[in-house]
Amino acid sequence: MKKASILILFVCLNSFSQTNTAKTTGLISDKAMVVSAREEASKIGTEIMQKGGNAFDAMVATELALAVAYPYAGNLGGGGFMVFRKANGEIGSLDYREKAPLAASKNMFLDKDGKVIKGKSTESPLAIGVPGTIAGVFAIHDKYGSIPMSEILKPVIALAEKGVIVTQRQEKRLNDYRAAIIKANGENTKFAAIYKQNDTIKYPILAETLKRIAKNGKNEFYKGQTAKTLVKYLQGKGSIITMDDLAKYEAKWRTPLSFKYKDLKVISMSPPSSGGICLAQIFKMIEPYDLSKMGHNSDESIQVIVEAERRAYADRSYFLGDPDFVKIPLKGLMADDYLKQRMSSFNLDKATLSSEIKEGKVTYNESTETTHYSIVDQFGNAIAATTTLNDGYGSKYYCDELGFFLNNEMDDFSSKPGEPNMFGLVGNEANSIAPQKRMLSSMTPTIVEKDGKLFMVVGSPGGSTIITSVLQTILNVYEYNLGMQEAVNASRFHHQWLPDVITFEPNTFDTNTFEKLKSKGYIINEKTTPVIGKVDAILILPDGKIEGGADYRGDDKAVGF
Ligand code: GLY
Repeated sequence: MKKASILILFVCLNSFSQTNTAKTTGLISDKAMVVSAREEASKIGTEIMQKGGNAFDAMVATELALAVAYPYAGNLGGGGFMVFRKANGEIGSLDYREKAPLAASKNMFLDKDGKVIKGKSTESPLAIGVPGTIAGVFAIHDKYGSIPMSEILKPVIALAEKGVIVTQRQEKRLNDYRAAIIKANGENTKFAAIYKQNDTIKYPILAETLKRIAKNGKNEFYKGQTAKTLVKYLQGKGSIITMDDLAKYEAKWRTPLSFKYKDLKVISMSPPSSGGICLAQIFKMIEPYDLSKMGHNSDESIQVIVEAERRAYADRSYFLGDPDFVKIPLKGLMADDYLKQRMSSFNLDKATLSSEIKEGKVTYNESTETTHYSIVDQFGNAIAATTTLNDGYGSKYYCDELGFFLNNEMDDFSSKPGEPNMFGLVGNEANSIAPQKRMLSSMTPTIVEKDGKLFMVVGSPGGSTIITSVLQTILNVYEYNLGMQEAVNASRFHHQWLPDVITFEPNTFDTNTFEKLKSKGYIINEKTTPVIGKVDAILILPDGKIEGGADYRGDDKAVGF
């Protein structure tokens, strides 16, 4: 009897640490699906495919529907990255990340003594980078779209006019940020109003902006009336963004970063996102270890993953930046010998200290902003796209005349070598500010092939925790045999080199695991236990059907057919 109780307790503790929710299956569909942060956006993207559109058409629709339904991170005033894999196996990626304005300069966030001025890169008008989203969706549509832009935008405009119902989470977010939004825009701004759960917010001005874009194309945003209104608003606030900045903005096609992990091929975003390269380094460093034997979220698995993360994030801080401005030793960073040597100082008995890898002392703030969506179409094309304003509602500057928020992406640059940004990430010369340069990102839109076939589409918001959330979701499916929804639900942890702490999601790991880790010298962040990532993903099942994983941590939803 006693033995049985102990066994039951052990099994319970183990399964508690594996996944904090009951075993669940996500939405299963026959051939096409969109998983995004809002049901309205997933529906619009799916309907475009039902009308015969492909994943690229659906991407444009979903991206812009999120700008309406999820203004917290969906945007016209931000930017992002998109990775695709066509049914024929062709892969590619688009960088529509924001750029530093022409008048930006290396020390623009420092005082006369060379110290970082608090808040200047996050809350001031100088925090705003030149937006890339509209250039991004037009670049994608021009190259791969199959139905007219005006058709794609119709349901998005209708959504803006009809309005979007406020969820409980949205009510909280709007409450949390209201004072900051009023501070940036005054008492008469749209989001100064108090919105409650189940209220409907209509966006008639955004609808007008979208109508002009539908009629006049990309130039409307970068050279036309919208550009003029935007620049007038921005300069009135003290931004340095000019008409010239907007006119010069171009999205850029880049070769995605691909690598092998056992029999998987992982295709992710190359710099200026750090996502792909960090993911590659971590996967390659953990490859020699038998994670599935160690057990899901066991202390040993956590150790191996944390030690690889620690080393990859240290490299991120030193080497990575905009490849149009700095030379990045991509091959060297991904070389087997280098990564083997990098892990050679690790053994399972004792934590490596981050200070032994590289020095630095920082504070850490978690953040779950940004938004990711995954798409598979009825033709077998797949898209992973992650888009952001950086912080929640970006810089909080909201152009009431156009109906959208502006980003505060300039904070993703390194204002000063060694100083942490809002994610606690430290950077170096490679990510210093320069006119027209793109700031380093952690966004990790990722597609995985198995045996040469499409296997998974995955990504997440979460600033510095994006990379580790994507990593753990892939491992949950591949190493630990979880289904897509289970893999998304499973509890996550995070280490980013500095600060030298492991952060765990709240109340989901057993204290035994913590004790074991502490006894080996790991420092556990027990003060901050945030939600880590908010993953939206799609898995191709063995029978060819597809399973969505929509993260319960948000209002995320899978819609398919
Ligand atoms: N702004 C968050 C990121 O790009 O990583």
